[in-house]
Amino acid sequence: MSQSTQSVIITGTGSYTPAKVLTNDDMAKIVDTSDEWIRTRSGIRERCFAGQDEKTSDMAVAAAEKAISAAGIDRSDIDLIIVATMTPDMPFPSTACILQSKLGLGNITAFDIQAACSGFIYALNTGSNMLRSGAYKKALIIGAEKMSSILDFEDRATCVLFGDAASAIILEASDASGVGVLGSITGSDGSEPSLLHQPAGGSTIPSSHESIDARQHFIKMNGKEIFKQAVRIMEQVSSNILEQHKFKSEQIDLLIPHQANMRIIDSFAKRLKLPMGKFHNNLDRFGNTSAASVGLALDEAYRKGRIQSGDLILLVAFGAGLTWGASLIKWQ
Ligand code: ACO
Repeated sequence: MSQSTQSVIITGTGSYTPAKVLTNDDMAKIVDTSDEWIRTRSGIRERCFAGQDEKTSDMAVAAAEKAISAAGIDRSDIDLIIVATMTPDMPFPSTACILQSKLGLGNITAFDIQAACSGFIYALNTGSNMLRSGAYKKALIIGAEKMSSILDFEDRATCVLFGDAASAIILEASDASGVGVLGSITGSDGSEPSLLHQPAGGSTIPSSHESIDARQHFIKMNGKEIFKQAVRIMEQVSSNILEQHKFKSEQIDLLIPHQANMRIIDSFAKRLKLPMGKFHNNLDRFGNTSAASVGLALDEAYRKGRIQSGDLILLVAFGAGLTWGASLIKWQ
Protein backbone atom coordinates (compact mmCIF):
# COMPACT_ATOMS: atom_id res chain seq x y z
CA MET A 1 0.00 0.00 0.00
CA SER A 2 1.49 3.36 -0.99
CA GLN A 3 1.74 6.14 1.59
CA SER A 4 0.41 9.60 0.88
CA THR A 5 3.12 12.24 0.74
CA GLN A 6 3.36 15.64 2.47
CA SER A 7 4.59 17.98 -0.26
CA VAL A 8 5.25 18.17 -3.96
CA ILE A 9 8.15 20.39 -4.99
CA ILE A 10 9.53 21.62 -8.31
CA THR A 11 13.14 20.47 -8.40
CA GLY A 12 14.05 21.43 -11.97
CA THR A 13 12.83 23.64 -14.82
CA GLY A 14 13.70 23.68 -18.51
CA SER A 15 12.53 25.16 -21.78
CA TYR A 16 13.22 25.24 -25.48
CA THR A 17 12.41 27.67 -28.25
CA PRO A 18 13.17 27.01 -31.92
CA ALA A 19 16.08 28.77 -33.61
CA LYS A 20 13.96 30.46 -36.28
CA VAL A 21 12.90 33.91 -35.03
CA LEU A 22 10.32 36.01 -36.90
CA THR A 23 10.07 39.68 -36.01
CA ASN A 24 6.88 41.68 -36.51
CA ASP A 25 8.46 43.11 -39.66
CA ASP A 26 8.93 39.53 -40.92
CA MET A 27 5.22 38.88 -40.23
CA ALA A 28 4.36 42.03 -42.19
CA LYS A 29 5.91 40.32 -45.25
CA ILE A 30 3.39 37.45 -44.85
CA VAL A 31 0.15 39.27 -43.92
CA ASP A 32 -1.12 42.84 -44.08
CA THR A 33 0.08 44.03 -40.66
CA SER A 34 2.75 46.21 -39.08
CA ASP A 35 5.18 46.15 -36.17
CA GLU A 36 3.30 49.10 -34.71
CA TRP A 37 -0.11 47.32 -34.79
CA ILE A 38 1.19 44.08 -33.27
CA ARG A 39 3.24 45.82 -30.56
CA THR A 40 0.55 48.21 -29.43
CA ARG A 41 -2.31 45.65 -29.52
CA SER A 42 -0.43 42.71 -28.01
CA GLY A 43 3.04 43.66 -26.73
CA ILE A 44 4.62 41.03 -29.01
CA ARG A 45 7.83 41.93 -30.90
CA GLU A 46 8.90 38.54 -32.19
CA ARG A 47 8.16 34.82 -31.96
CA CYS A 48 9.92 31.53 -32.76
CA PHE A 49 8.63 29.02 -35.29
CA ALA A 50 9.74 25.40 -35.40
CA GLY A 51 11.31 24.00 -38.56
CA GLN A 52 9.19 21.86 -40.86
CA ASP A 53 10.68 18.62 -39.52
CA GLU A 54 10.66 19.78 -35.90
CA LYS A 55 7.79 18.16 -34.05
CA THR A 56 6.13 19.06 -30.74
CA SER A 57 7.82 16.01 -29.16
CA ASP A 58 11.25 17.18 -30.38
CA MET A 59 10.81 20.51 -28.59
CA ALA A 60 9.49 18.64 -25.54
CA VAL A 61 12.60 16.42 -25.47
CA ALA A 62 14.89 19.48 -25.46
CA ALA A 63 12.96 21.13 -22.61
CA ALA A 64 12.77 17.86 -20.65
CA GLU A 65 16.53 17.24 -20.93
CA LYS A 66 17.19 20.66 -19.36
CA ALA A 67 14.69 20.12 -16.53
CA ILE A 68 16.10 16.64 -15.77
CA SER A 69 19.62 18.04 -15.68
CA ALA A 70 18.54 21.01 -13.49
CA ALA A 71 16.85 18.63 -11.03
CA GLY A 72 19.99 16.49 -10.95
CA ILE A 73 17.94 13.30 -10.98
CA ASP A 74 18.55 9.99 -12.64
CA ARG A 75 15.99 9.93 -15.46
CA SER A 76 15.22 6.28 -14.74
CA ASP A 77 13.55 7.47 -11.49
CA ILE A 78 10.84 9.35 -13.42
CA ASP A 79 7.62 7.35 -13.10
CA LEU A 80 5.08 9.73 -14.70
CA ILE A 81 4.95 11.92 -17.82
CA ILE A 82 2.16 14.38 -18.50
CA VAL A 83 2.28 16.48 -21.67
CA ALA A 84 -0.06 19.45 -22.07
CA THR A 85 -0.56 20.25 -25.74
CA MET A 86 -3.20 21.11 -28.30
CA THR A 87 -0.76 20.56 -31.15
CA PRO A 88 0.34 16.95 -30.56
CA ASP A 89 2.62 15.14 -33.00
CA MET A 90 -0.53 13.34 -34.18
CA PRO A 91 -4.06 12.75 -32.78
CA PHE A 92 -2.82 9.48 -31.28
CA PRO A 93 -0.71 7.98 -29.82
CA SER A 94 -0.15 10.69 -27.25
CA THR A 95 2.89 12.95 -27.45
CA ALA A 96 3.69 11.78 -23.89
CA CYS A 97 4.13 8.21 -25.19
CA ILE A 98 6.36 9.44 -28.01
CA LEU A 99 8.38 11.39 -25.42
CA GLN A 100 8.70 8.30 -23.19
CA SER A 101 10.45 6.50 -26.01
CA LYS A 102 12.57 9.46 -27.19
CA LEU A 103 13.86 10.06 -23.64
CA GLY A 104 14.58 6.35 -23.19
CA LEU A 105 12.44 6.11 -20.06
CA GLY A 106 10.94 2.93 -18.62
CA ASN A 107 7.42 1.67 -19.33
CA ILE A 108 5.90 4.34 -17.11
CA THR A 109 2.53 6.12 -17.04
CA ALA A 110 2.41 8.68 -19.86
CA PHE A 111 -0.53 10.69 -21.17
CA ASP A 112 -1.51 14.03 -22.71
CA ILE A 113 -3.77 16.73 -21.34
CA GLN A 114 -5.69 19.07 -23.64
CA ALA A 115 -6.68 22.28 -21.87
CA ALA A 116 -5.30 24.72 -24.47
CA CYS A 117 -3.37 27.59 -22.86
CA SER A 118 -4.29 26.42 -19.34
CA GLY A 119 -2.69 23.05 -20.10
CA PHE A 120 0.50 23.61 -18.11
CA ILE A 121 -1.46 24.34 -14.92
CA TYR A 122 -3.86 21.45 -15.55
CA ALA A 123 -0.84 19.13 -15.97
CA LEU A 124 0.92 20.54 -12.91
CA ASN A 125 -2.24 20.08 -10.82
CA THR A 126 -2.87 16.54 -12.08
CA GLY A 127 0.79 15.55 -11.58
CA SER A 128 0.91 17.06 -8.08
CA ASN A 129 -2.18 15.15 -7.00
CA MET A 130 -0.87 11.88 -8.45
CA LEU A 131 2.35 12.40 -6.49
CA ARG A 132 0.45 13.38 -3.36
CA SER A 133 -1.46 10.10 -3.53
CA GLY A 134 1.84 8.34 -2.88
CA ALA A 135 1.52 6.22 -6.03
CA TYR A 136 4.21 8.17 -7.96
CA LYS A 137 7.49 9.79 -6.88
CA LYS A 138 8.92 11.86 -9.75
CA ALA A 139 6.90 13.41 -12.55
CA LEU A 140 7.96 15.09 -15.77
CA ILE A 141 5.43 17.81 -16.61
CA ILE A 142 5.58 19.34 -20.08
CA GLY A 143 3.82 22.13 -21.96
CA ALA A 144 4.69 21.97 -25.66
CA GLU A 145 3.16 23.53 -28.74
CA LYS A 146 3.86 23.82 -32.42
CA MET A 147 1.26 26.55 -32.87
CA SER A 148 2.65 27.34 -36.33
CA SER A 149 1.17 24.00 -37.47
CA ILE A 150 -2.41 25.27 -36.90
CA LEU A 151 -1.99 28.98 -37.71
CA ASP A 152 -3.73 30.45 -40.73
CA PHE A 153 -1.06 32.58 -42.40
CA GLU A 154 -3.87 34.33 -44.31
CA ASP A 155 -5.59 35.48 -41.07
CA ARG A 156 -3.71 38.49 -39.72
CA ALA A 157 -5.90 38.65 -36.60
CA THR A 158 -4.51 35.35 -35.27
CA CYS A 159 -1.24 34.38 -36.95
CA VAL A 160 0.73 37.30 -35.51
CA LEU A 161 -0.10 36.36 -31.91
CA PHE A 162 1.30 32.85 -31.48
CA GLY A 163 4.69 31.11 -31.31
CA ASP A 164 6.23 27.65 -30.83
CA ALA A 165 7.98 26.45 -27.65
CA ALA A 166 8.22 23.75 -25.00
CA SER A 167 8.68 23.96 -21.26
CA ALA A 168 9.21 21.37 -18.57
CA ILE A 169 9.37 20.89 -14.83
CA ILE A 170 10.29 17.98 -12.62
CA LEU A 171 7.89 17.47 -9.72
CA GLU A 172 9.05 15.39 -6.77
CA ALA A 173 7.29 14.07 -3.69
CA SER A 174 8.92 15.43 -0.55
CA ASP A 175 8.59 15.06 3.22
CA ALA A 176 9.26 18.79 3.76
CA SER A 177 6.14 20.56 5.00
CA GLY A 178 4.65 23.91 3.98
CA VAL A 179 6.63 24.16 0.74
CA GLY A 180 6.13 23.32 -2.91
CA VAL A 181 2.80 23.30 -4.70
CA LEU A 182 0.45 24.60 -1.99
CA GLY A 183 -2.58 24.07 -4.20
CA SER A 184 -4.18 24.61 -7.59
CA ILE A 185 -7.58 25.55 -8.93
CA THR A 186 -8.76 24.57 -12.40
CA GLY A 187 -12.08 25.24 -14.11
CA SER A 188 -13.94 25.33 -17.39
CA ASP A 189 -16.92 26.76 -19.27
CA GLY A 190 -17.63 24.89 -22.49
CA SER A 191 -20.81 26.78 -23.37
CA GLU A 192 -19.23 28.73 -26.25
CA PRO A 193 -16.47 26.61 -27.80
CA SER A 194 -16.43 28.67 -30.99
CA LEU A 195 -14.90 31.67 -29.16
CA LEU A 196 -11.55 30.00 -29.79
CA HIS A 197 -11.33 26.73 -31.67
CA GLN A 198 -9.97 24.60 -34.49
CA PRO A 199 -13.22 23.52 -36.17
CA ALA A 200 -12.10 20.55 -38.29
CA GLY A 201 -10.10 17.37 -37.83
CA GLY A 202 -12.29 15.85 -35.13
CA SER A 203 -15.58 13.94 -35.24
CA THR A 204 -17.65 17.09 -35.92
CA ILE A 205 -15.89 17.86 -39.19
CA PRO A 206 -13.58 14.99 -40.14
CA SER A 207 -10.76 15.98 -42.46
CA SER A 208 -11.84 16.27 -46.06
CA HIS A 209 -10.89 18.19 -49.18
CA GLU A 210 -13.79 20.54 -48.36
CA SER A 211 -12.62 21.18 -44.78
CA ILE A 212 -9.13 21.96 -46.04
CA ASP A 213 -10.42 24.26 -48.79
CA ALA A 214 -12.52 26.08 -46.17
CA ARG A 215 -9.39 26.54 -43.98
CA GLN A 216 -11.19 24.86 -41.08
CA HIS A 217 -8.04 23.19 -39.73
CA PHE A 218 -6.72 26.50 -38.48
CA ILE A 219 -7.34 28.50 -35.28
CA LYS A 220 -10.46 30.67 -35.31
CA MET A 221 -10.79 33.25 -32.57
CA ASN A 222 -13.18 35.93 -31.36
CA GLY A 223 -10.34 38.12 -30.03
CA LYS A 224 -12.47 40.80 -28.37
CA GLU A 225 -14.59 38.36 -26.37
CA ILE A 226 -11.59 36.22 -25.36
CA PHE A 227 -9.85 39.40 -24.19
CA LYS A 228 -12.73 40.35 -21.86
CA GLN A 229 -13.13 36.83 -20.48
CA ALA A 230 -9.38 36.46 -19.91
CA VAL A 231 -9.09 39.57 -17.72
CA ARG A 232 -12.15 38.60 -15.66
CA ILE A 233 -11.18 34.93 -15.26
CA MET A 234 -7.52 35.53 -14.37
CA GLU A 235 -8.49 38.00 -11.63
CA GLN A 236 -11.21 35.70 -10.27
CA VAL A 237 -9.15 32.51 -10.15
CA SER A 238 -6.16 34.39 -8.65
CA SER A 239 -8.31 35.94 -5.91
CA ASN A 240 -9.94 32.57 -5.21
CA ILE A 241 -6.69 30.67 -4.75
CA LEU A 242 -5.17 33.42 -2.57
CA GLU A 243 -8.29 33.43 -0.39
CA GLN A 244 -8.29 29.63 -0.18
CA HIS A 245 -4.74 29.68 1.18
CA LYS A 246 -5.24 32.82 3.31
CA PHE A 247 -2.79 35.05 1.45
CA LYS A 248 -3.22 38.65 0.31
CA SER A 249 -2.15 39.64 -3.20
CA GLU A 250 0.63 41.86 -1.80
CA GLN A 251 2.28 38.75 -0.32
CA ILE A 252 2.98 37.38 -3.80
CA ASP A 253 6.68 37.60 -4.65
CA LEU A 254 6.30 36.66 -8.30
CA LEU A 255 3.28 36.25 -10.56
CA ILE A 256 3.62 34.35 -13.81
CA PRO A 257 0.56 34.78 -16.01
CA HIS A 258 -0.21 33.06 -19.31
CA GLN A 259 1.62 35.09 -21.94
CA ALA A 260 -1.19 35.93 -24.38
CA ASN A 261 -1.34 39.69 -24.57
CA MET A 262 0.36 42.48 -22.59
CA ARG A 263 -2.88 44.49 -22.48
CA ILE A 264 -4.66 41.52 -20.86
CA ILE A 265 -1.84 41.24 -18.30
CA ASP A 266 -1.92 45.03 -17.61
CA SER A 267 -5.69 45.03 -17.01
CA PHE A 268 -5.44 41.92 -14.84
CA ALA A 269 -2.60 43.45 -12.77
CA LYS A 270 -4.67 46.58 -12.14
CA ARG A 271 -7.65 44.52 -11.02
CA LEU A 272 -5.46 42.48 -8.68
CA LYS A 273 -3.74 45.71 -7.50
CA LEU A 274 -0.32 44.17 -8.05
CA PRO A 275 2.53 46.25 -9.54
CA MET A 276 4.00 45.08 -12.84
CA GLY A 277 7.37 44.66 -11.08
CA LYS A 278 5.95 41.52 -9.46
CA PHE A 279 5.20 39.93 -12.85
CA HIS A 280 7.53 37.95 -15.06
CA ASN A 281 6.65 38.40 -18.73
CA ASN A 282 8.43 37.34 -21.89
CA LEU A 283 5.69 37.43 -24.51
CA ASP A 284 7.50 40.27 -26.29
CA ARG A 285 10.05 37.66 -27.48
CA PHE A 286 7.94 34.52 -27.81
CA GLY A 287 4.29 35.51 -28.36
CA ASN A 288 1.55 33.23 -27.09
CA THR A 289 2.99 29.73 -26.88
CA SER A 290 -0.24 28.29 -25.43
CA ALA A 291 0.42 25.35 -23.05
CA ALA A 292 4.17 26.09 -23.09
CA SER A 293 3.82 29.73 -22.01
CA VAL A 294 3.63 29.58 -18.20
CA GLY A 295 6.47 27.04 -17.96
CA LEU A 296 8.56 29.05 -20.43
CA ALA A 297 8.25 32.18 -18.28
CA LEU A 298 8.80 30.16 -15.08
CA ASP A 299 12.03 28.65 -16.41
CA GLU A 300 13.29 32.05 -17.56
CA ALA A 301 12.42 33.68 -14.22
CA TYR A 302 14.23 30.93 -12.32
CA ARG A 303 17.34 31.06 -14.51
CA LYS A 304 17.45 34.87 -14.22
CA GLY A 305 17.49 34.58 -10.41
CA ARG A 306 14.02 36.04 -9.93
CA ILE A 307 12.93 33.05 -7.80
CA GLN A 308 14.46 32.53 -4.36
CA SER A 309 13.86 30.02 -1.59
CA GLY A 310 10.73 30.92 0.39
CA ASP A 311 9.17 32.99 -2.43
CA LEU A 312 5.41 32.82 -2.92
CA ILE A 313 4.72 32.31 -6.62
CA LEU A 314 1.38 32.42 -8.39
CA LEU A 315 0.93 30.83 -11.82
CA VAL A 316 -2.30 31.70 -13.62
CA ALA A 317 -3.68 30.92 -17.07
CA PHE A 318 -6.79 30.88 -19.24
CA GLY A 319 -7.41 29.38 -22.62
CA ALA A 320 -9.71 27.85 -25.18
CA GLY A 321 -12.52 25.77 -23.76
CA LEU A 322 -12.83 28.08 -21.97
CA THR A 323 -10.42 26.71 -19.40
CA TRP A 324 -8.54 28.37 -16.57
CA GLY A 325 -6.21 27.49 -13.74
CA ALA A 326 -3.98 28.84 -10.99
CA SER A 327 -1.25 27.24 -8.89
CA LEU A 328 0.23 28.68 -5.72
CA ILE A 329 3.80 27.64 -5.00
CA LYS A 330 6.08 28.25 -2.01
CA TRP A 331 9.53 27.76 -3.52
CA GLN A 332 11.52 25.31 -1.37
N1 ACO B 1 -2.57 43.91 -38.28
C1 ACO B 1 -3.25 45.01 -38.60
N2 ACO B 1 -4.56 45.13 -38.41
C2 ACO B 1 -5.20 44.10 -37.85
C3 ACO B 1 -4.55 42.91 -37.47
C4 ACO B 1 -3.17 42.85 -37.72
N3 ACO B 1 -2.44 41.76 -37.38
N4 ACO B 1 -5.45 42.06 -36.95
C5 ACO B 1 -6.62 42.68 -36.98
N5 ACO B 1 -6.49 43.92 -37.52
C6 ACO B 1 -7.50 44.92 -37.75
C7 ACO B 1 -8.88 44.37 -37.79
O1 ACO B 1 -9.19 43.89 -39.08
C8 ACO B 1 -9.71 45.57 -37.42
O2 ACO B 1 -9.87 46.37 -38.55
P1 ACO B 1 -11.29 47.05 -38.90
O3 ACO B 1 -11.58 47.92 -37.71
O4 ACO B 1 -10.99 47.78 -40.15
O5 ACO B 1 -12.23 45.90 -39.03
C9 ACO B 1 -8.83 46.33 -36.45
O6 ACO B 1 -7.50 45.83 -36.66
C10 ACO B 1 -9.19 46.18 -35.01
O7 ACO B 1 -9.34 44.80 -34.75
P2 ACO B 1 -9.82 44.33 -33.34
O8 ACO B 1 -10.10 42.87 -33.40
O9 ACO B 1 -10.90 45.25 -32.86
O10 ACO B 1 -8.52 44.59 -32.46
P3 ACO B 1 -8.38 44.49 -30.92
O11 ACO B 1 -7.99 45.79 -30.37
O12 ACO B 1 -9.54 43.76 -30.29
O13 ACO B 1 -7.11 43.53 -30.79
C11 ACO B 1 -6.47 41.24 -30.44
C12 ACO B 1 -7.13 42.26 -31.37
C13 ACO B 1 -5.00 41.62 -30.28
C14 ACO B 1 -6.59 39.86 -31.07
C15 ACO B 1 -7.16 41.28 -29.06
O14 ACO B 1 -8.54 41.19 -29.22
C16 ACO B 1 -6.70 40.16 -28.18
O15 ACO B 1 -5.54 40.09 -27.78
N6 ACO B 1 -7.59 39.25 -27.77
C17 ACO B 1 -7.21 38.11 -26.94
C18 ACO B 1 -6.57 37.06 -27.79
C19 ACO B 1 -5.91 35.99 -26.98
O16 ACO B 1 -5.33 36.25 -25.95
N7 ACO B 1 -6.01 34.77 -27.47
C20 ACO B 1 -5.35 33.68 -26.89
C21 ACO B 1 -6.23 32.99 -25.94
S1 ACO B 1 -5.40 31.72 -25.11
C22 ACO B 1 -5.55 30.22 -25.94
O17 ACO B 1 -6.14 29.30 -25.40
C23 ACO B 1 -5.01 30.03 -27.28
